[in-house]
Amino acid sequence: MTPTPDDSGAEVCIIIPAAGSGTRLGEPVPKAFVDLCGRTIIERCVDNIPASLGASVVVVVPADLVDRTRELIPHVTVVAGGDHRSESVRAGIAAAGDARILLVHDAARPLTPARVFTEVVDAVRSGRSAVVPGVPVVDTLKQVEPASDGPLRVSRTVDREELRAVQTPQGFTRDALLRAHADDTGLATDDAGLAERCGIEVHVVPGDPLAMKITTPWDLRIVRDVVGES
Ligand code: CTP
Ligand code: MG
Repeated sequence: MTPTPDDSGAEVCIIIPAAGSGTRLGEPVPKAFVDLCGRTIIERCVDNIPASLGASVVVVVPADLVDRTRELIPHVTVVAGGDHRSESVRAGIAAAGDARILLVHDAARPLTPARVFTEVVDAVRSGRSAVVPGVPVVDTLKQVEPASDGPLRVSRTVDREELRAVQTPQGFTRDALLRAHADDTGLATDDAGLAERCGIEVHVVPGDPLAMKITTPWDLRIVRDVVGES
């Protein structure tokens, strides 16, 4: 797609935090700049946004990669991020213009299908303040606690029917995302977590296995296989 610049008056702005270092991935370059079958993860992530949304895009990267990113993806706004994901998102919000609907989407989920973007946006358009994609949990989950010696001890089995593994893009009304991030020391692994702490109701639409996050070398191997086969 050719994303609209962020001063375009677009209804939807997609903020892509891509300023992490990718410690768990262990590649020599930050995760968003790792090669995924001939193109970087961040290029594929931006390309995957459905053009039908008419969205503007803000990409948040490590400060020393701002210029390189502007060359790689000239049609988006690029800003420098912070030490924590939430700080990078706040840098993105500051550059997001006046869009009425803000999506926050991890660069580390470059294969997210168009349907997930459109369902999140549609749910916000229809009046929800905060919307996340989620998938059922397939493993049996146990809560554990330290034992006096030896292996951890199981304290209980969690009812997985009540659980969803949450993905991105996470969608918000502008007001809800600004409220979620109003405390500029707030840190969370996702933006809906900050919204919940403010008492904002968060709703869930169906996620997708292709919206998986690349965290470990194993994840990268799976995503490379998927891209290679398509
Ligand atoms: N992110 C960011 N700024 C940070 C940390 C993370 O923009 N200071 C972004 C990452 O680039 C990624 C998303 O937030 O797109 C999700 O974070 P994660 O998967 O944890 O990526 P990293 O922090 O890069 O990986 P790690 O935790 O293994 O170092
Ligand atoms: Mg991280």
